[in-house]
Amino acid sequence: MSVHANLRGTGSDRSGRRRTGEVWLIGAGPGAADLLTLRAVRLIQRAEVIVYDHLADADCLDFAGPGAELICVGKRAGCHSTSQAAINAVLLARAKAGQCVVRLKGGDPGIFGRAGEEIEHLAQHGIRVGIVPGVTAALGCAAALGIPLTHRGIVRSLHLVTGHCRSGEALDLDWPRLADPAGTTALYMGRHNLSLLAARLIEAGLPARTPAVAVENGTLPSERRIFASIARLPQAVRTQAGNGPLLVIVGDVVALAPDWTTGRLVDLALAQHSSA
Ligand SMILES: C[S@@+](CC[C@H](N)C(=O)[O-])C[C@H]1O[C@@H](n2cnc3c(N)ncnc32)[C@H](O)[C@@H]1O
Repeated sequence: MSVHANLRGTGSDRSGRRRTGEVWLIGAGPGAADLLTLRAVRLIQRAEVIVYDHLADADCLDFAGPGAELICVGKRAGCHSTSQAAINAVLLARAKAGQCVVRLKGGDPGIFGRAGEEIEHLAQHGIRVGIVPGVTAALGCAAALGIPLTHRGIVRSLHLVTGHCRSGEALDLDWPRLADPAGTTALYMGRHNLSLLAARLIEAGLPARTPAVAVENGTLPSERRIFASIARLPQAVRTQAGNGPLLVIVGDVVALAPDWTTGRLVDLALAQHSSA
């Protein structure tokens, strides 16, 4: 955990009485700072303490007031990862001290963001918690690709799933439901289990040629898109992806992307490579 400034935050009102603190769980969106909501910006400007994770783009912090204390609890950009218990403790301590605390998380705080654990912990201690939604990675990446995630009369459901499981645990998803071609699946944290995920979907009946895309660093200038059929995507990701956050979208809507033709070319190239 690293602290950048500590200039303000007495937790007292003008008459010297102790204020009750508050915590705001705010979605920073998938990266690009201009995807923050106006409500998020207003609260970031007002915050006395901002506890942020590594997915929040640094530009989002430009809205912080000059005296705000910035506490990094993420894994990148020189920060060390901080345990959930330590994050809970810092949020509680600052709120109890009467400060206005912003907990800034990538995407939406309620989508694979461990918001529930923070809310429960703070509620147990009587601290008020507000939530400000953010653009979750699936929505940000789909918009960047220029595709809808549902399509009238063709794609009627959207599944947000995690490809991450605790070590030793099986990836236990509802494969028949996810294999229904009338749905779109957005896979978070799926890089390491991508081969398994693709194999399970195909076993469950999803056609192997179903269009898929992996978007890395979606909405940022460093964004990278890897298109291929679901059968070929794991190999394409292994050879083409870097180390940034990666979201996979699987479903017929991917073929609506103006760049989808590159998916067919990647498939062709990989097919030739494996038969050579
Ligand atoms: C711990 S989850 C947090 C999700 C976040 N709360 C949200 O709503 O987007 C982290 C995963 O989100 C996805 N992700 C977040 N930001 C992304 C981005 N800019 N581009 C691609 N994937 C992203 C990746 O799958 C990453 O492994």
